[in-house]
Amino acid sequence: MTSTRLPADLRLDADSLRERVVLLTGAGDGIGRAVAEAAAAAGATVVLLGRTQRKLEAVYDQIVADHGRQPAIHVMDLATATVQDYAALAAALQAEYGRLDGIAHVAGTLGARTPLEHYDIALWSRVMLVNLTAPWLLTQACLPLLRQSSDPAVVFASSSVGRTGRAHWGAYAVSKFGIEGMVQVWAEELDGGSKPVRINALNPGPVRTAMRLEAYPAEDRSKLALPAAVAPAFVWALSPASHGVTGQSLDAQ
Ligand SMILES: NC(=O)c1ccc[n+]([C@@H]2O[C@H](COP(=O)([O-])OP(=O)(O)OC[C@H]3O[C@@H](n4cnc5c(N)ncnc54)[C@H](OP(=O)(O)O)[C@@H]3O)[C@@H](O)[C@H]2O)c1
Repeated sequence: MTSTRLPADLRLDADSLRERVVLLTGAGDGIGRAVAEAAAAAGATVVLLGRTQRKLEAVYDQIVADHGRQPAIHVMDLATATVQDYAALAAALQAEYGRLDGIAHVAGTLGARTPLEHYDIALWSRVMLVNLTAPWLLTQACLPLLRQSSDPAVVFASSSVGRTGRAHWGAYAVSKFGIEGMVQVWAEELDGGSKPVRINALNPGPVRTAMRLEAYPAEDRSKLALPAAVAPAFVWALSPASHGVTGQSLDAQ
């Protein structure tokens, strides 16, 4: 699979997401938090989805302090959410905003760094649920809302191990391969009609977060990109600046 580089001159206007309503998963920490803050800085009304209320409230307070715009908070555990929960979220967004302009699926879980031969089935199911099935269900539930936007865009956090298999990355790697495949299938299905929905996969590359620390506890973290350095790539994928880009495997670094 070939991956597509973002424009070298990736520059975002301060209002590149002006008047857009975007939903961000994993918004309480790591890359998701940085994407939420960057999206708010770019003028979006942001809906912060995560499983830890305390973390989401901290992001909420930061965004209000920095930009004076009120986000929404939606606490949801993607490991236990039901189809009814996704429908209720979509109904709440419909009632509040009447549409949705974009989704950044950033939440993810690492699982175990274990050979497939010994991978635990319960953990396998949980990683696939959080990393692959939940983003699919959430997008599916929100499609009617996305179709009410003039330029809807969805971006999924991918990974280099979802493009080239690597030993001991287990369900995490397979779930990211699933994301890459789902993006291609969905991009074809949603490309036609008067209101195409753009769908892309974006690999943030190595970023200094809790997940990266869990995966590489011994590495020198000072050399890693900060979440804020890759957030603009997600904002770009959600913004009109990436108009016409769909079904792509993008790289933030
Ligand atoms: N960091 C990297 O180097 C790197 C490289 C390639 C790809 N990625 C991808 O980038 C994305 C963000 O990773 P990150 O490094 O920012 O990870 P992180 O710091 O561990 O953050 C993960 C986020 O996902 C949320 N989350 C985990 N399980 C959840 C669940 N069951 N329900 C709802 N939310 C859940 C976490 O919420 P809590 O904080 O409340 O637990 C957290 O906000 C992931 O999809 C990851 O696979 C990261």
